Amino acid sequence: MSPAEVLDEAIRRAFEVRERAHAPYSGFRVGAVLVLADGSMHAGCNFEVASYGGTVCAERNAIGAMVAAGGSRPVVCVVATHDVRPTMPCGICRQSLVEVSDDTLRIVSVAEVGREGRKSHETTLGALLPLSFRFDPATKAQPA
Ligand code: THU
Repeated sequence: MSPAEVLDEAIRRAFEVRERAHAPYSGFRVGAVLVLADGSMHAGCNFEVASYGGTVCAERNAIGAMVAAGGSRPVVCVVATHDVRPTMPCGICRQSLVEVSDDTLRIVSVAEVGREGRKSHETTLGALLPLSFRFDPATKAQPA
């Protein structure tokens, strides 16, 4: 698969997993797919809890799926929603993505809206969370 085909497949899978979101409270379904350098993909959807603070976003569930499968260092994060504009990862998800990747991680958000078709926005994790906090467990300090 070419890089463009890999991205198309990741977007397809993000909309597919979005259908399985558990979002009875907000009704806002989100699908996320992390693509690794070897082209492998890990998907997650949002999971809402009646005690709202327990809710986990699609991006963090995709991170969990990746970690559980033994994957690491995603190069692309696709976020899929049905809305008037693309959805950007929330602050907690941005910091969580910092945990498993670096500033170059591509964030590709795609929104599908009725007859208007798809709108997408691409940025990077570094642009979404500049000067992010990192911590080196070996030195118990921020990396040099
Ligand atoms: N949500 C995500 O899953 N990812 C995002 O990037 C933004 C928000 C979820 C959390 C909650 O279940 C619903 O969308 C509404 O905030």
